[in-house]
Amino acid sequence: MTTSELFSLRGKRALITGAGQGIGLTLARGLAGAGADLVINDIDAARLESAVAQLRGEGATVEGRRFDVTQAAEIEGALADIAGEIDVLINNAGIHRRAPLESMPLETWRAVIDTNLTSAFLVTRAVVPGMLRRGGGKIINICSLNAEISRPTIANYSAAKGGLKMLTRAMAVEWGGRNVQANAISPGYMRTDLTGTLTIDPVFDRAICARTPAGRWGEPHELIGAAVFLASRASDFVNGQILVVDGGLLSAL
Ligand SMILES: NC(=O)c1ccc[n+]([C@@H]2O[C@H](COP(=O)([O-])OP(=O)(O)OC[C@H]3O[C@@H](n4cnc5c(N)ncnc54)[C@H](O)[C@@H]3O)[C@@H](O)[C@H]2O)c1
Repeated sequence: MTTSELFSLRGKRALITGAGQGIGLTLARGLAGAGADLVINDIDAARLESAVAQLRGEGATVEGRRFDVTQAAEIEGALADIAGEIDVLINNAGIHRRAPLESMPLETWRAVIDTNLTSAFLVTRAVVPGMLRRGGGKIINICSLNAEISRPTIANYSAAKGGLKMLTRAMAVEWGGRNVQANAISPGYMRTDLTGTLTIDPVFDRAICARTPAGRWGEPHELIGAAVFLASRASDFVNGQILVVDGGLLSAL
């Protein structure tokens, strides 16, 4: 097999959640560039429609499926006809709801745990039986540096991403014997809408640039290499790993 065949996603169908914008949309574009057909999801119908149009305009084969990743019945209904035919699943949908832990409302805690952690269980549960039946598949969970280190006001997010990290390893153990690999990508601080309030805060911006050996924020396209690797045959013996793409931040004090 040539190196380009090893990394090719031709003939593969990839489902990416929360792909109406940001990292999910960029990863969808990256996987299409490696030859994958796409099914993209978002909770926001207008955003989803615009992402589908953009990707089609760039030559991708893509369809959109709107559903809320926290709702089992919605997920199963929206994917009923294709759940058995997904080769690559990227559990990307995620939210932040920042609040001091001592006064965090229960619904704020639950919203973040449901959207960032329980969602990966629910969407994977809908899709993995088809992978197991067809003899293989790839699951990529989008974790975060906050699965390793935290800061005030994001206890819900850190707990969710830490849980997602261990869910990734549990999936790897559960299905590794049946040729389904589950790995995670942990992005560092990337410029997207999710981090918009932080990128425009000069104090936070300075702190991130000083702490990151690369000296800057990451851009979503810098995650494409990791995603194509983990979606392709190039990673067939890689399972249960958390690939940190952070400009070196986690190695620095
Ligand atoms: N941006 C960063 O620096 C960064 C760093 C580490 C991890 N991440 C993770 O990467 C992922 C994507 O982040 P982003 O920065 O692109 O965020 P974003 O807010 O730009 O995009 C997230 C998308 O998910 C969708 N979404 C939210 N809730 C949903 C639901 N219940 N069902 C379906 N779709 C839903 C949103 O509508 C949105 O289009 C998240 O899991 C986030 O935690 C981001």
